[in-house]
Amino acid sequence: MGQQIKRKTAIVTGAGSGIGRSTALELAKEGVNLGLIARTESKLNEVAKEAASYGVKAVVAPADIANLEEVEYAVKKLHDELGFTDILINNAGIGVYGSFLELEPEEWKRAIEVNVYGTYHVTRAVLPQMIEKDAGDIINISSSSGLKGTAGSSAYNASKFAIQGMTEALMQEVRRNNIRVFTLNPSLVATELAFGGDSDKNDKEKYMQPEDLAEYMVGQLKLHPRMFIKQSLQWATNPF
Ligand SMILES: NC(=O)c1ccc[n+]([C@@H]2O[C@H](COP(=O)([O-])OP(=O)(O)OC[C@H]3O[C@@H](n4cnc5c(N)ncnc54)[C@H](OP(=O)(O)O)[C@@H]3O)[C@@H](O)[C@H]2O)c1
Repeated sequence: MGQQIKRKTAIVTGAGSGIGRSTALELAKEGVNLGLIARTESKLNEVAKEAASYGVKAVVAPADIANLEEVEYAVKKLHDELGFTDILINNAGIGVYGSFLELEPEEWKRAIEVNVYGTYHVTRAVLPQMIEKDAGDIINISSSSGLKGTAGSSAYNASKFAIQGMTEALMQEVRRNNIRVFTLNPSLVATELAFGGDSDKNDKEKYMQPEDLAEYMVGQLKLHPRMFIKQSLQWATNPF
């Protein structure tokens, strides 16, 4: 027998589209109040409106997660309006692709700033109160690209490998505080980040969809608090 997550509070980063949007809405269906972070406020407002139709409180806090001050401001706003954060979904991220020499140093750096520092900044802002309460769940979205390098993906690979190391270390640190830290490593999910506007590739039967990941995360959060899945890989069954 697992646990109920109804009436808990979650912060979801990158909640304006793709996996983050689906996860926010899946949590709302479960009765979880939401703090929504991304840069584009209009998209967050749309998600908040849809989430509110499930009867939960949804507060938006626009921020660039690469910017520590913006993150601290946003998280404070969410804490003030929603109270203690039970669940943090570190989902926001960018895909930066190009061969090693083609990518400009600024593009390479941006992958690290958003994907690695962004995850670090948000976690740093939320963690103290989880430690104080001696409870909490953190899900960090890495990628299959965090486990295996591919040509043309050095910046994205480096950022996602870094998330693995950071998450594993954090997990070892805060288990004793009853905080569960999960790493997810999805392969291709049909979102803007993976496929852009290529609608041929948005084949629902073939590729994983953002809502599949969202359901999976809710399932993990409902596990009995005495256990967690520290690392998992999500694959499409037959993407051929
Ligand atoms: N799709 C895949 O195949 C796949 C596979 C493995 C892992 N992932 C990972 O899953 C996560 C979500 O990806 P997705 O496919 O759902 O992407 P997506 O549809 O492009 O959504 C990304 C979200 O992150 C937000 N975001 C981007 N940069 C940000 C920043 N600097 N500060 C705050 N928010 C930011 C975006 O909103 P704004 O632009 O408005 O800020 C958007 O809400 C990423 O970490 C990605 O690496 C994706």
